[in-house]
Amino acid sequence: MSHNVLVLAGDGIGPEIMAEAEKVLACLTRDHGLDISMDHALAGGAAYDDCGTPLPEETLQKALACDAVLFGAVGGPKWDGLPRELRPERGALLPLRSELALFANLRPALTYPQLVAASSLKPELVSGLDIMIVRELTGGIYFAEPRGINTAESGERVGINTLRYTETEIRRIAHTAFRVAMQRVKRLCSVDKENVLEATVLWREVVMETAAGYPEVELQHLLVDNAAMQLVRRPKQFDVIVTTNMFGDILSDLASMLSGSIGMLPSASLDENGKGLYEPIHGSAPDIAGKGLANPLAMILSAAMMLRWSLGLPEQADRVENAVKSVLEQGLRTVDIHTQGTEKVSTSQMGDAVVRALGEQTINGMQA
Ligand code: IPM
Ligand code: MG
Repeated sequence: MSHNVLVLAGDGIGPEIMAEAEKVLACLTRDHGLDISMDHALAGGAAYDDCGTPLPEETLQKALACDAVLFGAVGGPKWDGLPRELRPERGALLPLRSELALFANLRPALTYPQLVAASSLKPELVSGLDIMIVRELTGGIYFAEPRGINTAESGERVGINTLRYTETEIRRIAHTAFRVAMQRVKRLCSVDKENVLEATVLWREVVMETAAGYPEVELQHLLVDNAAMQLVRRPKQFDVIVTTNMFGDILSDLASMLSGSIGMLPSASLDENGKGLYEPIHGSAPDIAGKGLANPLAMILSAAMMLRWSLGLPEQADRVENAVKSVLEQGLRTVDIHTQGTEKVSTSQMGDAVVRALGEQTINGMQA
């Protein structure tokens, strides 16, 4: 079957890390018979510079038409002064999520054995860590109306956002989380703030109703402040976490640091039918852009998630993930994960090493 992938490299380190992910996909296409065609379009600051909008209509139409989107990163100081709607993050990423109805954001936090020392927590707390955060992505305070900065009758300015969830929105993300839990160790923790926020009182109720369809899954509820504390205190108590858009934004950055480097973590944003947008959790890192310092592994692992979740190619996803493990095993490290006794490599050297490792798997008969 032929798959159409839209590549949106974006800004900052986006194009550099995307080039490495494309090398990996090209290798799978060339040497392993996958039929993946790649189209490219502009998004973010790069699109703004070219056509005055961070999400050109052509890009949106291509994103709506393709099977999956690979997304690098957008934004940078150059565009920080623009009006909010034109800023790359708000003007490209959020509308893409919403127009494509990508309501389910999967963010794994996985500690690779070779990188235990790079975590800011003690090795015994994080070694073997494997958490999946399921973040609601198209609702809640990020999108609900009313919103804006208004002037009150007194003449004072008032900033307004609204936390709002319908039961349909809660139920569909709960189903996703339960299904993910069923594929893992069947433990799910739902995170809310039901002692204060009515929207999350409903969240908790609907998650509990949904649980009836998944009797094998052990369900727990935590308040978000406690969840943040527990994630640092004893992170391995968690397996799958499901939470709202904003809590998920915060907790997923926290969880990423448990794993050693934010440069290692991919993510998937999925719609009802499994179509998805795949992006590293980290941003565009303008300070290191163009220097060959960026870690391409989160981007490469995002491509692996795409193979698994949108293109129905789980064996190929395994192969890419194994190739990444293999380069870490070889001691190759970009600067963000470099520790004493390992070999510092550039962005493209890392990508080349992953491609080599893919080839070696075939030679050693590891191919599925
Ligand atoms: C993320 C980012 C985005 C978010 C920003 C860039 C809008 O922080 O993907 O976590 O808040 O969702
Ligand atoms: Mg974030």
